Amino acid sequence: MSKRIIITGGAGFIGSHVVRLFVNKYPDYTIINLDALTYAGNLENLRDIENKPNYRFAKVNILDVKAVEDLFDQYQVTDVIHLAAESHVDRSIVSPLDFVYTNVIGTVNLLNTAKQKWAADLSNHRFYHVSTDEVYGSLGTEGLFTEETAYDPRSPYSASKASSDHFVRAYHETYHLPVVITNCSNNYGPFHFPEKLIPLFINNILQGKPLPVYGDGLYTRDWLYVKDHALAIDLVFHKGLNGETYNIGGFNEWKNIDLVKLLCQQMDEKLGKPAGTSEQLITYIKDRPGHDRRYAIDATKINRELGWKPTVTFQEGLSETIDWFLANTEWLNNVTSGNYQHYYESMYSNK
Ligand code: NAD
Ligand code: TYD
Repeated sequence: MSKRIIITGGAGFIGSHVVRLFVNKYPDYTIINLDALTYAGNLENLRDIENKPNYRFAKVNILDVKAVEDLFDQYQVTDVIHLAAESHVDRSIVSPLDFVYTNVIGTVNLLNTAKQKWAADLSNHRFYHVSTDEVYGSLGTEGLFTEETAYDPRSPYSASKASSDHFVRAYHETYHLPVVITNCSNNYGPFHFPEKLIPLFINNILQGKPLPVYGDGLYTRDWLYVKDHALAIDLVFHKGLNGETYNIGGFNEWKNIDLVKLLCQQMDEKLGKPAGTSEQLITYIKDRPGHDRRYAIDATKINRELGWKPTVTFQEGLSETIDWFLANTEWLNNVTSGNYQHYYESMYSNK
């Protein structure tokens, strides 16, 4: 029988790419996008597939156990790909409990429901938990995160994601729930909510606003194009082994300031501005508390065992991303005219 998959957080940044990929690639599957539509959820992200016959949307909060159970019953759900989360580190510093509720309790609710609804026969089911490299903590100048690296979360966001990962593994060990986990590095691409570094800075350049670089700007992230993450999720969902963890990354480390300079350069070229124009907007501001110095993923296992590797270079992905934002100013305006503005003011007005 064909699969009926709940994808949680499907109206968010990465979730919308995963929903689009699955809806288009697997017409025989029913894809149920379960999303509470928080500030980060935007159904405009899925306009191009919303009328496809194999797509459904359910406005459900993963904290609402009854609603989640009803959805499992209604569709006789076979699989879950779980992306719904509070995802922004700066927000987690302001409101840690929101992260505990959604990322920890929400995940346990989903695990409980899957365990209960699939109890008669656990075969042919899969609970796929999408997590982050941030659970591993912060690296010095050397080394990479492997699947064996001990967890060492340091922000309320990463602590909540680490906790959810532990629960997912515990349900595998204790109840034999068929789970798989991936831990991915920083994503970027179309539909990225403009509170995160790359879309925020694209938007600020367009608005002629300062580019607020935290601390000394020498913090390092490993960037992956979101469509390559979605392809990895497709592969792990179908070919990954139960109980396993796979790290996903771009082998693509950038110091924030170098990335911002590349972004400024590409923006100047695309906007036909003299070289150096956007760089003048760079403003160093107070550091993020507990700011992790460096993340870098060793994605050897998923490459060796499943054959995944990124398909685009960073220069290509960044260029495509900028082109998308320039072509979708209506999307950007709709997002930035909402709640986001109040949040932006509260985050940056006193720095
Ligand atoms: P996002 O913030 O863009 O989207 C999150 C989505 O979850 C939104 O649509 C939101 O409405 C929904 N949501 C939030 N709380 C909910 C709740 N209680 N019930 C139902 N829906 C809820 O996040 P993203 O960047 O797309 O990240 C998706 C997942 O991938 C997260 O689990 C995140 O931890 C993980 N991840 C993200 C990155 C990254 O760089 N963005 C990297 C690695 C892993
Ligand atoms: P972000 O996109 O928030 O992702 P994460 O914190 O999950 O890695 O930030 C990426 C890097 O950019 C991180 O080192 C923090 C830094 N940053 C800034 O310097 N200024 C900003 O305004 C933002 C949002 C992030």
